[in-house]
Amino acid sequence: MEQAPEYKMGIIGLGYVGLPLAKLFLEGGHTVYGIDADERKINMLNKQQSYLSDFNRKDIRKLFSKNSFHVGTAFDVIEKVDVIILCVPTPLDEQHQPDLSYVIGAAQSSLPYLRRGQLIVLESSTFPGTSEERLKPMLESTGLLVGKDISLAYSPERIDPGSKWELEQIPKVVGGVTPSCTAYAKQVYGSVFNEVVLVSSPRVAEMTKLLENCQRYLNISFMNSLLKLSEELDINLWEAIEAAGTKPFGFTKYYPGPGVGGHCIPVDPLYLLWKAREHHMDLPFIDLCHQVNEDMPGYIVRRVEKSLQPKALNESSVLVIGVTYKKDVNDMRESVALPIMEHLLQAGVNLGYFDPYVKTLKIGETVLHSTPLTARKMKNYDCTLILTDHSNIPYELLVAHTPIVIDTRNATGKMAERKNVILL
Ligand SMILES: NC(=O)c1ccc[n+]([C@@H]2O[C@H](COP(=O)([O-])OP(=O)(O)OC[C@H]3O[C@@H](n4cnc5c(N)ncnc54)[C@H](O)[C@@H]3O)[C@@H](O)[C@H]2O)c1
Repeated sequence: MEQAPEYKMGIIGLGYVGLPLAKLFLEGGHTVYGIDADERKINMLNKQQSYLSDFNRKDIRKLFSKNSFHVGTAFDVIEKVDVIILCVPTPLDEQHQPDLSYVIGAAQSSLPYLRRGQLIVLESSTFPGTSEERLKPMLESTGLLVGKDISLAYSPERIDPGSKWELEQIPKVVGGVTPSCTAYAKQVYGSVFNEVVLVSSPRVAEMTKLLENCQRYLNISFMNSLLKLSEELDINLWEAIEAAGTKPFGFTKYYPGPGVGGHCIPVDPLYLLWKAREHHMDLPFIDLCHQVNEDMPGYIVRRVEKSLQPKALNESSVLVIGVTYKKDVNDMRESVALPIMEHLLQAGVNLGYFDPYVKTLKIGETVLHSTPLTARKMKNYDCTLILTDHSNIPYELLVAHTPIVIDTRNATGKMAERKNVILL
């Protein structure tokens, strides 16, 4: 780690990305001004409460322990900071196109407070060109020139909430608009990350993030597309993946699931596709994966229906286990549990769910509450459907007390050999 001056950091967006980043800079001895448009989050932080599954109350209290963490909704603190990092959402709009309104909004609110010498970094996942084509002209509209008066860089966030990876262990990719912008960003991130990887431009850094997520998207979608064939051929796909994974070179294990969810993997490829189309090009692989994943909720429901026969869906009770988009987080964004549960409700299923991270869930007009997982409750259901494999779920108990367990995540492991377990 590099010796660097103590910085005053302005972190805009204190969600799954911004708050852990704030923590890292605070631990590195810097002062952090955190801005979030969501008053509820700011109020919770001020009351030393957590809204993220990776932070408990004690972790939040620790952030404030040295009096160097200041949070609020107002942007005037930008005047005081050396570095501004944007960690706001980059979702899709209703037409499945990139929605940069949060990035543009956060940058716009910062403009009145920009001053010479500041470094601005975008960390939100986005298409190549965002920093240079969208942010740079906005910043320069203040009369401050990038590379001369202020610095601008892109550095993709690669955090994996709910996983064992410490943020500082994940190499930080950085690409500045000019060599001096890159050097400034390298010094800032080098003060808290174990390794900083420099690339030649923000475009390359933006592409790096999309490349990582598109690769994952393509491979998971391919595995999902093999599920139907495996069913037809009576093959345990998980067993085949594990066997293929014993090859010491040339094969990387990716696993199937109930569909691709989350704010990144199904979203980022569409950002890249949008950019390709701007250049009159197509990315047919991404279209194909999109089709595969659109079909997944219907496929899962068909498997549930088949497993329950001769009982009809509208005579059956199904307990869904895990509704977040991935294990061990409280993040519901683009979770495939939602369309699957919606299909089941529409088919007349008596539906219940359990998720330690989600107490209530609204699906259409129906409000559901997470049910306690007791043996007595489980016996009321004809089938359990595991959609998210949280670590702290008593899978043994589920297999012991529900007549049928449909496992889309291989959470039941060796129990999958039991007669009542159907591993997809
Ligand atoms: N969550 C992850 O695991 C992860 C990993 C890598 C990259 N990313 C990317 O990082 C970005 C942020 O993701 P996230 O998961 O932290 O989202 P998030 O929704 O958890 O947090 C974003 C925060 O920004 C705030 N915000 C929105 N507009 C604002 C504005 N104008 N001013 C101030 N605050 C504003 C929101 O209130 C929210 O709290 C996205 O581009 C995402 O794709 C996320």
